[in-house]
Amino acid sequence: MASNPKKKKDFISTQDWSREELDRLLDITKDLKTYPEKYRNTLTGKSLCMFFYNPSMRTRNSTEVAAYQLGIHPTFNSIKDSWIGYQSESVKDTAKVLARYYDAIGIRIFPVSVNWIYKEGNRILREFADYSDVPIINFEDDQFHPLQALTDIYSIKEKKGDPRGKKIVISWAYHPKPLPVSVPNSILLITSRYGMDITLAHPKGYDLDSDIMNIARNNAKEFGGSLTISNDINEAYSNADVVYVKSWGALKYYGNAKDEKQLRMPYRDNWRIREENLDFTDSNSILMHCLPIRRNIVADDAVIDGKHSIVYDQAENRLYTAKALLYDLLREKE
Ligand code: CP
Repeated sequence: MASNPKKKKDFISTQDWSREELDRLLDITKDLKTYPEKYRNTLTGKSLCMFFYNPSMRTRNSTEVAAYQLGIHPTFNSIKDSWIGYQSESVKDTAKVLARYYDAIGIRIFPVSVNWIYKEGNRILREFADYSDVPIINFEDDQFHPLQALTDIYSIKEKKGDPRGKKIVISWAYHPKPLPVSVPNSILLITSRYGMDITLAHPKGYDLDSDIMNIARNNAKEFGGSLTISNDINEAYSNADVVYVKSWGALKYYGNAKDEKQLRMPYRDNWRIREENLDFTDSNSILMHCLPIRRNIVADDAVIDGKHSIVYDQAENRLYTAKALLYDLLREKE
């Protein structure tokens, strides 16, 4: 039985949610992490459609377990074994039919599934949202990864307290191939909503989407943070409270990995994250990565397993934020 359409709210980008709504999700996350039994089986009888155009480990498993613990029945669908829009069947038909069965629908759609046409994955998700009477949850599209962003700000608060005025470096790192920009876009948007002083560190040519940068600048203005760009890794890391490592592809060569390679290869050594880079940060800084990560290519073992790293706690928090989101979207509200 589908939820009441009047109560439907989608989770496609954190930017679509107000600060008060995001704070509510973070409060629920903290509460259910502290008191899991209070939430167990509170949503029995609800159902969640999870469908993946692309592979996943954390998003799939954290959401599936989160649903199970709340009493929700999750089903996994992939393009290998389902007729799932938008190629075999229209988005409209898929969304309308699935909304008759489920109480929420989660979708992952990467750039490769939309021929690297930038923002096409996000456009398709929003089309699903237009036709679906139940909430659409973004499991990562080509622009945003809001469940990851929610986890990231929760993890920062958990480890460092109030994020306001704390310095975060969103650091590009070398990776053998160009990766989507959804995670850097999302961490930029969420940390600028929480008043952090952000340094976006990347080599020349790896600028993020100017529209996203403008939104982040406006967020920073509204919430009392700042946003600077640095092409010098050690200068960027100086006195940082949080280092968030993530590789991404150059937008200028979006979908053209062959030509992009010429740009990225010279950065293979200088932008591989090493212990020495972290020496420039605050002694109590935390090192974050959304995972998966290619060890000793993107960052050294000594970094991932080092004293600053919180990557496993961060990954664990995916379970709690997924659970908080499902709880918030599907509980009966007054
Ligand atoms: N961080 C993250 O989204 O991981 P998966 O791709 O394994 O879901």
